[in-house]
Amino acid sequence: MQRVQVIKGFSKLSKEEKLKQVTSYFDNPKEAERILKTFWHRDQKIQNRLEEFSENTITNFYVPYGIAPNFLINNQLYLIPMVIEESSVVAAAASSAKFWSEHGGFHTEVVSMNKIGQVHFIWEGDKENLVNKAAELKRELVHGTKHLTENMEKRGGGLINIEIIDMTNELDNYYQLKASFDTVDSMGANFINTILEEFALILDRFFAKQEDWPEHERHCEVIMAILSNYTPECLVKTEVEASIEAFKNCDNNLSAEKFVSKFEKAVRIAQIDVHRAATHNKGVFNGIDAVVLATGNDFRAVEAGGHTFASRNGRYSSLTDVRIENGKMNYSLTIPMALGTVGGLTSLHPMAKFSLELLNNPNAEQLMMIAASVGLANNYSAVKSLITKGIQAGHMKMHLFNILNHLGASKQEKDKAVEFFKERKVSYSSVNDLISSLRSN
Ligand code: MEV
Repeated sequence: MQRVQVIKGFSKLSKEEKLKQVTSYFDNPKEAERILKTFWHRDQKIQNRLEEFSENTITNFYVPYGIAPNFLINNQLYLIPMVIEESSVVAAAASSAKFWSEHGGFHTEVVSMNKIGQVHFIWEGDKENLVNKAAELKRELVHGTKHLTENMEKRGGGLINIEIIDMTNELDNYYQLKASFDTVDSMGANFINTILEEFALILDRFFAKQEDWPEHERHCEVIMAILSNYTPECLVKTEVEASIEAFKNCDNNLSAEKFVSKFEKAVRIAQIDVHRAATHNKGVFNGIDAVVLATGNDFRAVEAGGHTFASRNGRYSSLTDVRIENGKMNYSLTIPMALGTVGGLTSLHPMAKFSLELLNNPNAEQLMMIAASVGLANNYSAVKSLITKGIQAGHMKMHLFNILNHLGASKQEKDKAVEFFKERKVSYSSVNDLISSLRSN
């Protein structure tokens, strides 16, 4: 690989030219080009569609699309589509789903559906003046964006509320317009941001026309207008519950009581220790992100909101909670989640569309409940493994194929390895030893 140079006007090149430019840095440009082209979709229409999602596209990056069956959510069974590269996540979701389907499944509800957007502005004025004009300003903001909110209102959503917030204690002359929106079945980022940018213009005009205000108060500086990915009012809760007795076969060495007590302690540790909380919540997002990706939603937005929510009490903490009462263990996850089932990539990406169909074309609330349940399922499986046989046993079993592929194992060698490792511990060196011995015979 040669040292890359500054490239001017890369975005203006054709796809073929971009590809040639990138591969020219490789020791074997022809081979690099061949690899990239291997991943082009054979259907040109689909390829064009994929390329239009982003910029400077030269090929596609494949990630496995798996299915976790047996998810019983609010008494309905689902086959869950999961897009994830990490081995054992789909297996963990599936095993948890099966266990919980035998104990009533996931019970879930959407607590609220409102999303937040803000216009951040600096205004050097007498706060009383703003307070006196607040109602008039809000009316103008609502009226001035009617043409943008009308359609959403017809679908049952729209602009819910506007607040003017004095933040001058935090930063000199800093105020916010904080608006909340219901975007129904769309994720709503474009809808919210368009309205906020219109708010910024209206705000500017509103200040300018206050003739009885001193000159310097008739101007505000809009710093930015943007939605917030922290959506604590777009919230879903999912829970499972089973009698302690139900956990009697979870581990050969632990009684049901001991299992539940260890499980509870593991969750409490994630509630009080930030290092453990981060990993614990990562396990929740293993499941959620995989569903969010499979349905063409924005996993960065969901992650941002979830992690912020995890810190809402001033210390980053577990997103899940456990209660042991009356001989039962109740395990729950409460998490904000801004998802859409219309708009965005949901119908444009052929596989996102497929996933939604597989899920029986849910609305946004139903998809929130499904994704949250998969998050809880993955977290349950992870904690269960951690307090029993440890995470590596299952993880490395699934990782076996990655190691075998790394070693260039043939189909025959893979079959032998799977048989060999049924009862043995998988590690890179143990697999390497086996393959070497097979090859030397
Ligand atoms: C690995 O992807 C996720 C876990 O580390 C989560 C956890 O520790 O709870 C297993």
